Amino acid sequence: MSLIRMVELPAFGDGRGDLVSIEAGLHIPFAIQRVYCLYSLGDHPRGMHAHRQLQQLAFCVHGSCRFVLDDGAARESVVLSTPTQGLLIGNLVWREMHDFTDDCVIMVLASEHYNEADYIRDYDEFLALLKA
Ligand code: TYD
Repeated sequence: MSLIRMVELPAFGDGRGDLVSIEAGLHIPFAIQRVYCLYSLGDHPRGMHAHRQLQQLAFCVHGSCRFVLDDGAARESVVLSTPTQGLLIGNLVWREMHDFTDDCVIMVLASEHYNEADYIRDYDEFLALLKA
């Protein structure tokens, strides 16, 4: 099974512009506890961690970037370039973000409040946890 789980988000466009809607429990399998955005991104990769419990949905509100997901067995890459394509990221999945366009804005919907203790920021520790 692919690590890349995309969710098609419904868009409502008319002569006035576009609108994308996301509903917890309908388009994403968790209740949203937190929303954050990444913007003013440069050449530095972001992410480079996994989470013990946290689930997320990420999408590019504007511009594009490349996500790399890694579950310790496989490593897969996907380019996000439209607000209607959300990437579901489960717990215990290593994620990296690369290749941001200058105008890239990433929105992330998260299943938990921010908790540094939920992060695994060391790749070897991540692999060791999977084997435990
Ligand atoms: P981090 O999650 O490491 O960024 P990324 O994975 O996108 O590279 O977060 C960067 C900093 O921001 C870190 O000091 C923690 C802080 N932070 C919060 O305080 N609250 C949040 O909701 C998030 C996502 C990060």
